[in-house]
Amino acid sequence: MSKPLNIGMIGYGFMGRAHSNAYRKVNNFFDLAYHPVLKAVCARDEAKAREFAQRWGYESVETDWRKIVERKDIDAVDICVPNNLHKEISIACARAGKMVLCEKPLSMDTAEGEEMCAAVEQAGVPNMVWYNYRRVPAVTMARKLIEEGRLGRIFHYRAQFLQDWTISTDLPQGGTALWRLDAAAAGSGVTGDLLAHCIDTALWLNGSIDNVTAMTETFIKERKHNLTGKVEKVGIDDACAFLARFQNGSLAIFESTRYARGHKALYTFEINGEKASIRWDLHDLHRLEYFDHRDESKLRAWRSIHVTDHGGEHPYMDKWWVPGLQIGYEHSFVHQVADFLDALAKGVPAEPTFRSALETQKVCDAVLKSAASGQWVSVR
Ligand SMILES: NC(=O)c1ccc[n+]([C@@H]2O[C@H](COP(=O)([O-])OP(=O)(O)OC[C@H]3O[C@@H](n4cnc5c(N)ncnc54)[C@H](O)[C@@H]3O)[C@@H](O)[C@H]2O)c1
Repeated sequence: MSKPLNIGMIGYGFMGRAHSNAYRKVNNFFDLAYHPVLKAVCARDEAKAREFAQRWGYESVETDWRKIVERKDIDAVDICVPNNLHKEISIACARAGKMVLCEKPLSMDTAEGEEMCAAVEQAGVPNMVWYNYRRVPAVTMARKLIEEGRLGRIFHYRAQFLQDWTISTDLPQGGTALWRLDAAAAGSGVTGDLLAHCIDTALWLNGSIDNVTAMTETFIKERKHNLTGKVEKVGIDDACAFLARFQNGSLAIFESTRYARGHKALYTFEINGEKASIRWDLHDLHRLEYFDHRDESKLRAWRSIHVTDHGGEHPYMDKWWVPGLQIGYEHSFVHQVADFLDALAKGVPAEPTFRSALETQKVCDAVLKSAASGQWVSVR
């Protein structure tokens, strides 16, 4: 019999749905010592919270997140609200002895992130940040191939995250739907929202980044603010490109924008090693492209590996359907919940912990600092 783990969910938007789906599915596919129980969801609008609770099977609703933190019947709090709320809620959870699962980016900046790490570590509560792309089977497999030494010495890391949804000058900033355009709620623009994912994956696959040089641009300088009704200066970066040097000597180039007409969520990375290269594309997330120079020369070519095989060879896939049938975006969250519950049962940290996710925050801060100064900036 698995033990219950009572979840309190804060926020019911995009991630509130993605995580709720994962909690509901995980025990159908993974054998685990714990099973999530959807105890309560919190949203400021009670009617909407009730509708969400009914749809996803939450037992109760709260309209103030502090109530979730205070409730004795909640073991773990899931933070799915805009970035400016992550710190206050996480620290309150840690002080109340709750486990904390916080959405990315960990915080608005490194200083906030340090406080959050100190709070969860002092309280000794299990904690994790939802950098879910690590759990896409093809990405997890990329890490295995690198760990096995198949790429050899790594020379290059290249990542992009391209979107096109903020090009209109009529789009306002701020408020419930458009908090990502408001620096006071988001902290930064594409750097914290999109590049944070690319950086987390890069640190996980290729180790630490030493220093960066960056440029950012805000193409639309003023937008109407939904909360004040006034036209206000836009404080976020619409686009960001940066160069980086990894500790292992490899060079990197990262680019992100919300102004790449035609691209919706084109997250790609490519890694070039001495012996082999790999590349991955979110729009085709179940495939890993692999080129091995050691192949016989007449057959040497990029292979497109359909990461759906069983037998423990393709990560997580033995839990799903039959070989050849692929899974999708939402499964990365199911995998992350499964890994969290497994780590809990074993009494080990579930990665990325707040402390691990702080490394991404440090790179984001260095990127923004470099863009402002025009200088190379050390991450440490
Ligand atoms: N892991 C990923 O791939 C991924 C994807 C999208 C978003 N995110 C992160 O998840 C977080 C939420 O993003 P989202 O896309 O779900 O946003 P969203 O706008 O869809 O949802 C945010 C939710 O927070 C609620 N909210 C805001 N202030 C609140 C308050 N004071 N009390 C209670 N609820 C409040 C809103 O009503 C809404 O339900 C952000 O930190 C974002 O960066 C991560």
